[in-house]
Amino acid sequence: MKYDLDRIIDREGTGSVKWEMYRGGSNAGPITPVDTSLASDDPIPMWVADMDFACPKPVLDALSERVRHGIFGYTSASDGYYDAVTGWFKKRHGWDVSKKWITSTPGVVPALHFAVKTWCQPGDKVLIQRPVYYPFFRAITNGGCEIVSSNLTEEDGYYQMDFEDLEKRASDPKVKISLLCSPHNPVGRVWTVDELRQYGEICNHHGVIVIADEIHADLMMPGFTFQPYAMLGREFANNGIVCTAPSKTFNLAGMHLSNLVIPNPDLKQAYDAYMFETGVAGGLNPLALVATEAAYLHGEEWLTQVMKYIHDNYLIMREYLAENLPQLCASELQGTYLAWIDFRELGLNQAALEKMTQLDAKVLFDEGHIFGKEGFGFERINLACPRSVLSLALNRLKMQIEKL
Ligand SMILES: Cc1ncc(COP(=O)(O)O)c(C=O)c1O
Repeated sequence: MKYDLDRIIDREGTGSVKWEMYRGGSNAGPITPVDTSLASDDPIPMWVADMDFACPKPVLDALSERVRHGIFGYTSASDGYYDAVTGWFKKRHGWDVSKKWITSTPGVVPALHFAVKTWCQPGDKVLIQRPVYYPFFRAITNGGCEIVSSNLTEEDGYYQMDFEDLEKRASDPKVKISLLCSPHNPVGRVWTVDELRQYGEICNHHGVIVIADEIHADLMMPGFTFQPYAMLGREFANNGIVCTAPSKTFNLAGMHLSNLVIPNPDLKQAYDAYMFETGVAGGLNPLALVATEAAYLHGEEWLTQVMKYIHDNYLIMREYLAENLPQLCASELQGTYLAWIDFRELGLNQAALEKMTQLDAKVLFDEGHIFGKEGFGFERINLACPRSVLSLALNRLKMQIEKL
């Protein structure tokens, strides 16, 4: 079926974090939802990574049917659920996953916290690559650990891993695990096989366990192919924990369900033991299970249309910037639906940039500096929205930048 992705769906009253609660920078307060006619000047949220598109129809149908059943007692994942999850990995990425390797958690962020608690002692260090998805930081510090960053290098908006630096940092015996963001949020890189292999070899050599956050794996732009970390080879799979989820792919983030793939039985046992100790193991949300199974079985047609739409949004944005705001530079978007834009040429300091975007233009991006100080001067823009909303946001931005 053809999905109407231009349709504006009013999310008011749904408790949407994106629309009703803005974490904000120094000046931002709570926002009111945008007028669906787009006539008012309400703020437009383009920050947190969820989509303003309705989920695939088969997901909505499956949920309705499950709701009609009427009982939502303690629930575990069925064989059908595991078949759907592993079937998706195989079909989408050619990745053979045994159901025995899967541990489900209430989201990837909690899974990262659990990983730090499982494999690190307070005082240990965890390796990351800034600028990077900012909840990585809290997962590390909550475990009493120290953040060690091997920063990505940037040239003309293109980011790469710094292997020499990575080797140096990974060799510190205090570094126990490394959080890999693949594809990389916020810079939009889809790591190549060679990059992942080099990264993995360094971690393996120094006994650093790799936690690969692959939540954006299904969101590839044309011409890019996702490489599952565990498919690099046995030695990588044996030293890796892969975090997957249907949440970004099918706009199911509020369902809070993710599937970790842990091929090494010793690592899996340790992880599951931690989950058990903390009371997290022991049943999953029945609606999340149903939605995930339906999405993985029947959601691909929707995903194809959504990714095409988002790619077009990206091209339209690039063209708009080139014509109207040449001072801004968008990084190449290889994967994810989050564009990474360089505003540094405007010469604004952090507070002034934040004021211009949030208070004056009333477009709410994720400020680059929250991904680490290396992101200063950048903004992360969520492109998973109807085109009219994107156009409005760009026009507002242009008006304010022209006033500078
Ligand atoms: C890299 C990355 N990991 C994890 C998450 C969130 O995971 P969850 O909602 O499953 O906790 C996001 C959301 O934007 C993300 O970008």
